[in-house]
Amino acid sequence: MKTILITGCSSGFGLETARVFLDRGWKVIATMRSPHADILPASDHLRVLPLDVTEAGSIRGLIEAAGPIDALVNNAGIGLMSVLEGTPMQTTRDLFETNTFGTIAMTQAVVPQFRERQDGVIVNVSSSTTLKPLPLLSAYTASKAAVNAFTESLALELEPFNVRVRLVIPGAAPETAFSRNAQTRMRDGIPAAYAEFAQGVFARRGQSSLVTHARDVTDAVWRAVTDPASPLRMPAGADAVAAAGAR
Ligand SMILES: NC(=O)c1ccc[n+]([C@@H]2O[C@H](COP(=O)([O-])OP(=O)(O)OC[C@H]3O[C@@H](n4cnc5c(N)ncnc54)[C@H](OP(=O)(O)O)[C@@H]3O)[C@@H](O)[C@H]2O)c1
Repeated sequence: MKTILITGCSSGFGLETARVFLDRGWKVIATMRSPHADILPASDHLRVLPLDVTEAGSIRGLIEAAGPIDALVNNAGIGLMSVLEGTPMQTTRDLFETNTFGTIAMTQAVVPQFRERQDGVIVNVSSSTTLKPLPLLSAYTASKAAVNAFTESLALELEPFNVRVRLVIPGAAPETAFSRNAQTRMRDGIPAAYAEFAQGVFARRGQSSLVTHARDVTDAVWRAVTDPASPLRMPAGADAVAAAGAR
């Protein structure tokens, strides 16, 4: 029986991915900043462990506690909808700490065991904003574009060791709390000069008939992990697939 470790399982795509792998006979290590096991079905195959991807000590402790794994899904991420002029640099750094450096640090922590065993899969969850740019998302998109570039280079570096690295690129999923959280992170609000423009952007949000569902993302992660022939970049959701096709 194989073991998968997933980051950011307290809600959204991470939680659903944990459910799917449990249902399909995998051992799942579901990690959360504040573990609450009761949100997943009770199972001998489930372990819920604490992890903050921005803390080196937390990553070290997790890797020790987890033991050998076969797959890692770097799903933990935070969003930010903001005007660059109104975004403190610290806020941008926080975004990169979680989305970019958290992904890189977790990857670095599992690569040695995968390389030694000549087996393993790493799936990094990016965003379709890297395929189709949208306003008010410059810092967030930059943090995810860096994940794309990191993943594509690393895939070549680990190929000789039979370690696969994949990108799952979801579109906008109104059903998760992600977008709401991204807006609340705009602590300093929208600068007055951008107010009208930003209002227009917010008004148009959610009007697209093409959206992403958690199922699209779990399907893509499942394929990325279990199908050695899966492509490196996997758009997930109708809007992400359309954005990838338009490039
Ligand atoms: N939903 C969308 O529209 C969308 C679109 C494209 C890409 N994505 C990407 O999909 C991934 C999952 O997002 P989601 O939609 O499922 O949003 P979500 O429901 O807000 O889930 C994000 C998860 O990341 C965790 N997290 C945040 N900071 C963390 C940290 N420092 N260490 C460990 N875990 C941390 C959160 O845990 P806490 O509960 O502790 O905060 C939560 O479990 C993210 O990488 C996001 O960028 C989402």
